[in-house]
Amino acid sequence: MLKISELEAGYGRVQVLRGIDLHVDEGEVVSILGANGVGKTTTLRAISGIIPAWRGSITFDGVTFSDEVPEKRAAHGIGHVPEGRGILTTLTVGQNLELGATLRRDGPKAVKADLDRVLTLFEPLAGRLDEPASRLSGGQQQMLAVGRALIGRPRLLMIDELSFGLAPLLVKEMFAMIRSLRDEGTTFLLVEQHAGAVAISDRIYVVSGGRTILESAADKVDTDQLVRSYLGDHDADITAAATPIETDQD
Ligand SMILES: Nc1ncnc2c1ncn2[C@@H]1O[C@H](COP(=O)(O)OP(=O)(O)OP(=O)(O)O)[C@@H](O)[C@H]1O
Ligand SMILES: [Mg+2]
Repeated sequence: MLKISELEAGYGRVQVLRGIDLHVDEGEVVSILGANGVGKTTTLRAISGIIPAWRGSITFDGVTFSDEVPEKRAAHGIGHVPEGRGILTTLTVGQNLELGATLRRDGPKAVKADLDRVLTLFEPLAGRLDEPASRLSGGQQQMLAVGRALIGRPRLLMIDELSFGLAPLLVKEMFAMIRSLRDEGTTFLLVEQHAGAVAISDRIYVVSGGRTILESAADKVDTDQLVRSYLGDHDADITAAATPIETDQD
């Protein structure tokens, strides 16, 4: 469905991506993992057209992107929940959700059906459609961001750090939701620093220094090793994973 080869990109004259190679097959959940600042967000921005690719190729559903604007890529079926969620806090919850339908061409009835589905999925939003989005908790804003993207009916949904800032129980719930949405036919490309993403993924890539340095089937990943080697000290599990080794060697 998505194939990226030798992708290079950056900001101004600063190169960030130095060779990203990855693919996502229809029906998969694929996660890009990596420490702070390695280029995960930049990769998603290049895919959705927010920044241009300098070199390499991005092919989606047989179409090779060049200078298509983000709206055009979204119309091809790419959804993007950006880092920081991109909620418009001065608008109401309902208005934010409506924005997700901007590119829909199949009429208000179909959109309403999807809205109802999102409100069933994210129950806390249901009674709050007329409230400003600024009043939602962090977790509810994350639900709103994902819900808004789902209303656009993406074939591939890219989510930048779904787990960021969420309480552990909510992370679990959101990850479980990804799995059930996948079973209903949505394909996912996730960006995560949370090692818990491995458990809901089919395959993972590790990015370091703007390059994909590792690809693996998720069930072959040694999560402790992954955290120790590539994910920095973001996760609470890390100390647990790292300490015994040092003590054993003493
Ligand atoms: N808008 C920008 N302008 C200039 N440099 C940027 C911009 N956004 C990111 N960068 C730089 O590009 C590099 C990669 O950033 P990126 O946001 O892709 O990393 P990341 O892997 O998503 O990290 P994080 O885990 O912190 O979200 C960093 O050095 C960052 O400072
Ligand atoms: Mg990021």
